[in-house]
Amino acid sequence: MFWKNLLPFYLNTRHLRVVSQNGNGSLLKFPEGFLWGTATSTTQIEGNIHNEWTDFVARDGSNCRVACDSYHRYAEDIEWMVQLGVNTHRTGIEWSRLQSEAYGPLNQSELNRYIDQFERLNAAGIVPMVVLHHFSNPPWLNAIGGWTNSQSVSAFVDYVTKLVPVLRNRVRVWNTFNEPDTYACCAFVLGEFPPLHKGRLGAFRTVIRNMAEAHEQVCGLIRQAGSAMGPVEVGFSKNWTYFQPHRKFLPWDTAIARVAHSQFNRFVLETFLQGPRKQAATFLGVNYYGRIRFQNLWPLIPTCGFSREQLAAMGIECDDMLERHPPGLETALLEMHQQSGLPVYLTEHGSSSTDEAFRGRDLRENLAALHRALERGVDLRGFYYWSLLDNFEWQFGYSKKFGLLSVDFSNDQRPRAMKPLALTYREICRQNAIPASWERTAEPSQAPAQRPGQTSEPVYGPPSL
Ligand code: FCB
Repeated sequence: MFWKNLLPFYLNTRHLRVVSQNGNGSLLKFPEGFLWGTATSTTQIEGNIHNEWTDFVARDGSNCRVACDSYHRYAEDIEWMVQLGVNTHRTGIEWSRLQSEAYGPLNQSELNRYIDQFERLNAAGIVPMVVLHHFSNPPWLNAIGGWTNSQSVSAFVDYVTKLVPVLRNRVRVWNTFNEPDTYACCAFVLGEFPPLHKGRLGAFRTVIRNMAEAHEQVCGLIRQAGSAMGPVEVGFSKNWTYFQPHRKFLPWDTAIARVAHSQFNRFVLETFLQGPRKQAATFLGVNYYGRIRFQNLWPLIPTCGFSREQLAAMGIECDDMLERHPPGLETALLEMHQQSGLPVYLTEHGSSSTDEAFRGRDLRENLAALHRALERGVDLRGFYYWSLLDNFEWQFGYSKKFGLLSVDFSNDQRPRAMKPLALTYREICRQNAIPASWERTAEPSQAPAQRPGQTSEPVYGPPSL
């Protein structure tokens, strides 16, 4: 029929409109001063680490004891960042290295290593965003129940009180907690992270409340200490996953999606932003990967037993972990900016796949969504690609490939190499724009499975709000 023949053309035109909407038809420009970065976390890359993950065995039989060996190779990692042309990097400090007992002094030689790392980043013109908590605790804290114990709050505040004066000359941007929702859910509800507890929703909520309390106090002391590098910035990072039923008419799937959304999104965001706590941070970090849809109470994602091909046949396009849902990024940024009233950093986005063309398409679609959010008034300051390196992906070990750089884990030297997406990202950083050439270089090697009534071209139209 006539309209059916026109539909692909219409979709293509909408896509071009977004890419060209900012001027001469070739580039999608970002605001001047926009930060482009990479992100990593201590347990996933450093190695030589002594926290609850040290003895943890991932589903692929691996552990994090060497990981990318960035503990010894951080200077090389920074050289790679220079090659990429990023102007910021989100990196962690491992609490278990610095304090061997509650309220103890900080370990000076471990501190010196981090100081050297931040000095090298600054010297390279790469602004460090420093994450204080990313899914790991010192053993002495885990021994008393970790964040389920309210003593965690004062212990953490003590640690940060000692840390900040030492680092205020080298660090200006702080991230208190990474994804408290993911951490508390995987550790106390799903049994996927140490201490591997299942179904303890009460513990989940206690952890969130304690972390939110610590976040508030730590924001206060970081802002009071200031930074010799300029105006201090501090915030936490909320993971935003959309939870939806696959078929809206199945009441149990609608119910489970609602519960997941209310506990893992709403409750967490509200606890961190409630009352005067709203004024504690200077920014909100958003980590965005996509969507989880439920069918008969079961998540339709590759990590829950389905192949990507099976899911694609159901109209669910995934990387190796989650369903991709680029339009949701625009909505999430708008909602969270409005709710918090704060500037936003996209502190993590990336995809795991060995198909670089797929990853390129995913990045392009998500950056287009992010650009639309900017145009709709979201005060968005920067974007951090997860991740700089292929790394230890928690319960999945080394089987997930999120890196811009590959790492040869079979080689003791852990050699790194740029993947094709790294070259694309370098172009984005250089031009502060989605480059026109990307239209040619990032096309999928194989057309993705088509959904009924859908063309194989990605759709860039506005999300249904
Ligand atoms: C986020 C985590 C990060 C990494 C990515 C893939 O939820 O913060 O450490 O695991 O997912």
